[in-house]
Amino acid sequence: MNGDNARSRQDADARSPAADGDELRNRHIRSFVLRAGRLSPGQARAIDELWASYGVDHQPTRLDAAAVFGRNAPLVLEIGFGMGNTTAEIAAARPDLNFLAIDVHPPGVGNLLKLIEAGGLTNLRVMRHDAVEVVRDMLAPDSLQGVHIYFPDPWPKARHHKRRLLQPPFVHLLSSRLAPEGYFHCATDWEHYAAQMLEVLGAEPMLSNTAAGYAERPDWRPPTKFENRGLRLGHGVWDLLFRRRAGTPAADHSESAAPGA
Ligand SMILES: C[S@@+](CC[C@H](N)C(=O)[O-])C[C@H]1O[C@@H](n2cnc3c(N)ncnc32)[C@H](O)[C@@H]1O
Repeated sequence: MNGDNARSRQDADARSPAADGDELRNRHIRSFVLRAGRLSPGQARAIDELWASYGVDHQPTRLDAAAVFGRNAPLVLEIGFGMGNTTAEIAAARPDLNFLAIDVHPPGVGNLLKLIEAGGLTNLRVMRHDAVEVVRDMLAPDSLQGVHIYFPDPWPKARHHKRRLLQPPFVHLLSSRLAPEGYFHCATDWEHYAAQMLEVLGAEPMLSNTAAGYAERPDWRPPTKFENRGLRLGHGVWDLLFRRRAGTPAADHSESAAPGA
């Protein structure tokens, strides 16, 4: 590390959490990079024609889930659905639950809208926005039955670890959005990220682990596209299944929720 780097590292270490919070309220390190993926004609048509029925726009006010879904049912949030095939499969298998699925990747958004239409799924809605901002701005404390985060971008290089989605501030925010006894389910095929998830979720006071360490993959999580790619490359798979402890009040810590906070 040269002198300038060492100095800026010291400056960063010396910043107060409040200063980080102020900075991150407006601008934060993103856990994704938007790539110019080509939309197929079918995906483009789905976005044009189906967004009005199944898309939800980001807004700086709380989501009225009963109005969005046209009914009251427990709400499950999925962050980073990719192409959405697993998302649609889970929603089809659980018509008793409402699912809100978020990603930023346009081809995936188009694909999931197509799957909703093809499957006649009435319990699934799609958002195209940074999930950190959606959770912070639109989801009320205690409002979720479950959270699904399957194979989040691993950001394998050490200098990119700050971009990983599952870090203490965001895990804390998400936990506050879970209802008591609500579940937090994530999975990864990167051993280093799995260990980080176990450490971060294990250290969150609002959560308790349902397993001694990693969990078995529950039957209700079908393998995902990204998981199958990892398996083909010889990766392992680690599931984590935590629950929100009853009796832990949900404080609103939204200002310091972003990755890298
Ligand atoms: C590695 S892919 C996994 C996709 C899918 N879950 C699977 O297993 O096939 C991670 C996805 O998370 C999305 N993502 C990353 N950060 C996000 C964020 N802050 N908000 C919404 N989506 C995000 C990316 O666009 C990408 O589609």
